[in-house]
Amino acid sequence: MRRFLTALFAALSLCGLTPVLAEDPAAVPAAAPAAEVTAAPAVPAAPTPQPMPNGVLKLVGNIEAGKKIFNEGKGEAPPCMSCHGETGLGDDNMGTPRLSGQGFVYLRKQLYEFATDHRTDTTMGVMNGVAKALSDQDKADISAYESSVQQGALAAASNLEEIKAAGAVPVGERHLGKGIVLYGIPEQGVAACSSCHQYNGRGALPVYPIIGGQRYVYLVTQLKKWRDGSRANDPLAQMRVVASKLKDEDIYNVAAYLTSAPTIGGGNSREPHQAQPAAAGAVAAH
Ligand code: HEC
Ligand code: HEC
Repeated sequence: MRRFLTALFAALSLCGLTPVLAEDPAAVPAAAPAAEVTAAPAVPAAPTPQPMPNGVLKLVGNIEAGKKIFNEGKGEAPPCMSCHGETGLGDDNMGTPRLSGQGFVYLRKQLYEFATDHRTDTTMGVMNGVAKALSDQDKADISAYESSVQQGALAAASNLEEIKAAGAVPVGERHLGKGIVLYGIPEQGVAACSSCHQYNGRGALPVYPIIGGQRYVYLVTQLKKWRDGSRANDPLAQMRVVASKLKDEDIYNVAAYLTSAPTIGGGNSREPHQAQPAAAGAVAAH
């Protein structure tokens, strides 16, 4: 046992991980003075989590059926394209998000949560009704369809000049937002968006949605909703914690960068992994 511990310590110190032993008080970092400790921001309590029932999770999406509902609607559900655009690229005037190329699991989760009122559409007030009009199979079909629509990563990049000219939503500075996306705001305790959403927000599916190349106006409204707690369907309150530390100008800056953030960086020419649902009936792992 002794020999094992000695070997373990040797191995740890080789990795630069010398364990701090209680014997040496000098090795324990002094506690920060109380005055410097900032109080944790108040984060609204998460609603009771309601995971999708197993039977729903197992449903396999049919791309062709999803495309038909997207274009033509079904029963009480209006055609999705009337607000989200012909292929799902979203619209800044309506404040609708891009859906095309977004992850299957993420899209289906949102539709399920609109239907169960765990997320409320306060922008146009329609998505809760729309989602309630869809069966669980319809939700899987549409999510399979939209996740299969492959377009340029920046096909929905917002025209910031137009939005600025329209004057309804303030527009931030791209170069300031880039720092937040890649490095966060250490002095405000904001984590880098890339630490969860991957490089430039290209997504870490299935949990962390693609936010790079998303519509500017939609990004701004969602960040404000996470901040005031009116959107609270994020696992572990992760987004509410991040947004609670953002100032208005941080939100405008970060959204200005994200809407046209390139998915690849200098020195790395690999495109992000995209799940390709091979054929109708196939469900993407993401
Ligand atoms: C009348 C306009 C309208 C119609 C029709 C509509 N949507 Fe929406 N949708 C919105 C708006 C506005 C939002 C943003 C809600 C918010 O601000 O929280 C949204 C959000 C969403 C989201 C959340 C995306 C994300 O990134 O989290 C999904 C998924 C979605 N819609 C799917 C659909 C589907 C599927 C249909 C068709 C069955 C549809 N929508 C029809 C207006 C519409
Ligand atoms: C600790 C992890 C974490 C960090 C850091 C983080 N996010 Fe998120 N974010 C999430 C999760 C998880 C979701 C998905 C919530 C859900 O399931 O509805 C999300 C969702 C979002 C959405 C909603 C996307 C949509 O389509 O509706 C936006 C916008 C967003 N994040 C922006 C940001 C920005 C900007 C930053 C950096 C300032 C950031 N996030 C940092 C975890 C994180």
